[in-house]
Amino acid sequence: MTSILVLNGPNLNLLGVRQPEVYGRTTLSDIESMCQSHAAERGFTVSFFQSNHEGALVDAIHDARNVHDAILLNAGAYTHTSIALHDAIASVELPVCELHLSNIHAREEFRHTSFISKVAVGMICGFGAHGYVLGLDALRRHLGH
Ligand code: DQA
Repeated sequence: MTSILVLNGPNLNLLGVRQPEVYGRTTLSDIESMCQSHAAERGFTVSFFQSNHEGALVDAIHDARNVHDAILLNAGAYTHTSIALHDAIASVELPVCELHLSNIHAREEFRHTSFISKVAVGMICGFGAHGYVLGLDALRRHLGH
């Protein structure tokens, strides 16, 4: 059965209360439930992990090898800074879909650069929490499952 890891980076544990005008009122646990039911209805599995720590995210990417088929990644602010996450993705050869709730290209200049995009199969941004479901479907299609 197809297995997708949904990986969330720094500050995403505060979704729902964090700048709701930018990120919406849906919590990370609401998003997890949404993804779990979406996956169950379509016969694949999702695992969720969130960390505020760059190294823990690198470890999670390494640990996904031989366990998951793909990764849906919202790296939060590490998107714009982390060569370590870029290298981890390049090292594991798992397809990664980059995800952002907000449209990072319509925001501050510093959000326009992504170290993740260079090693991702594609990117979804600007559709809020619904983007997670779009990302899961995009990865399944990419996998041909
Ligand atoms: C984000 C966009 C990033 O620029 C920001 O640092 C985040 C969230 C998003 O989902 O829109 O933490 O990844």
